[in-house]
Order: sequence, then structure tokens, then C-alpha cells
Amino acid sequence: MKQIIISAVATLALVSPALAQDVATGEKEFRKCKACHMIQDASGTDIVKGGGVGPNLWNVVGRKVAGQEGYAYGDGIKEAAEMNPDLVWTEEELAHYITNPNDWLEAKTNDPAAKTKMTFKLNKGQADVAAYLASVSPDAGAAAPAADAAAAPAAEGESAEAPATN
Ligand code: HEC
Repeated sequence: MKQIIISAVATLALVSPALAQDVATGEKEFRKCKACHMIQDASGTDIVKGGGVGPNLWNVVGRKVAGQEGYAYGDGIKEAAEMNPDLVWTEEELAHYITNPNDWLEAKTNDPAAKTKMTFKLNKGQADVAAYLASVSPDAGAAAPAADAAAAPAAEGESAEAPATN
């Protein structure tokens, strides 16, 4: 079962950038994130000037969970990354995470005591924010030059991952 989940996640990582969510709406919603997150590209150019409480979110789609070098992640998310070594941020994972980071951590670690350092929850527009983050993730886009949007409905990702939460 684990293999199936991993390959489902890997497939989503390849096709999800093609999902047609509303990037412009997501960019506006990102205002709620920038108190704690910047989006700064590899050359040091700010795409969104933001705080350093949380990790830089440039290129986050396709990046390993807790994979921003130099950022001091909390134990909970590090545990999630260690337990799921192939786990990368897809739009689906991001939408779940920002809805409720502790709920996401519990699903990934099976540990109800896993605690996030991110004290924020977004209760609407999560898919748009995830699409916006994908639009500032050049590596994710490069991985799926010919992806077909119809091949990756969000619901597929949810059902593929459901077993992991049990
Ligand atoms: C109050 C500050 C704060 C706000 C607001 C906030 N975050 Fe975070 N975020 C954090 C912190 C702190 C972490 C590190 C979590 C940890 O180490 O457990 C984090 C982690 C993340 C991660 C994991 C990144 C990685 O490298 O694995 C993502 C993705 C993320 N935030 C997205 C968002 C988005 C999108 C928003 C807006 C909807 C947002 N955050 C709003 C503080 C914040």
C-alpha cells in the first residue's frame, strides 16, 4: 500500500502544475502569508517581500517537505519528512497543510502530539494559493511540460492518500 501511495504522490507531483486554479486570486490571498513567508528566487530577488518566521516559499511545489536549507523547522514537520522520505509538496498537499497544519502533520506521522510551528490556518481559497505557489515554482513546471490538466483532478489525490491517515 505504501508503494501505491508513494507512486500516486509522485504522479501528482508531475501533473499538478497544470491544474487550472485561479493563480491571480491565490496571489492576492498570499497577502495573508507574507507576514511570515517571503518568496525569494535563487538569485536573491524578492518576488514577494515577506517575513522570515517561516521558510522561503519560492519553488516550494516539487520541493521536499521541510526541505528549505538553512531554515530551522519544528520537530513535527521534520518527523513527517523523515517518515515519508519521498514526500514533496504538491498543490494537494499544500491545500491540506494550509487548511490545518496540525491536522496535516497528524495524517503524515500518525502522531496526534505532532505540533506545527505554523500558527495560521486558511479556511478558503487554499487551492488558489497552492496554484499561485506552483506558479512561482519553476522546477515543478519544468517537470511537467506536457501534463494534461484533465489527468489530475484534485479528488484523485485525496482518495489516493486516504489510506495514509489510518
Ligand atoms: C504566523 C506566521 C505564518 C503565517 C501567517 C503562515 N505561515 Fe506557513 N509557516 C510558518 C512557520 C513558522 C512554518 C514552519 C513550520 C514548522 O517548522 O513546523 C511554516 C511552514 C509552511 C510551509 C512548509 C514549507 C516547507 O518548506 O516544508 C508551507 C508550505 C507554508 N508554511 C505555507 C503557508 C501559506 C501558503 C500561508 C498563507 C496561507 C502561510 N504559510 C502562512 C509560519 C506562518
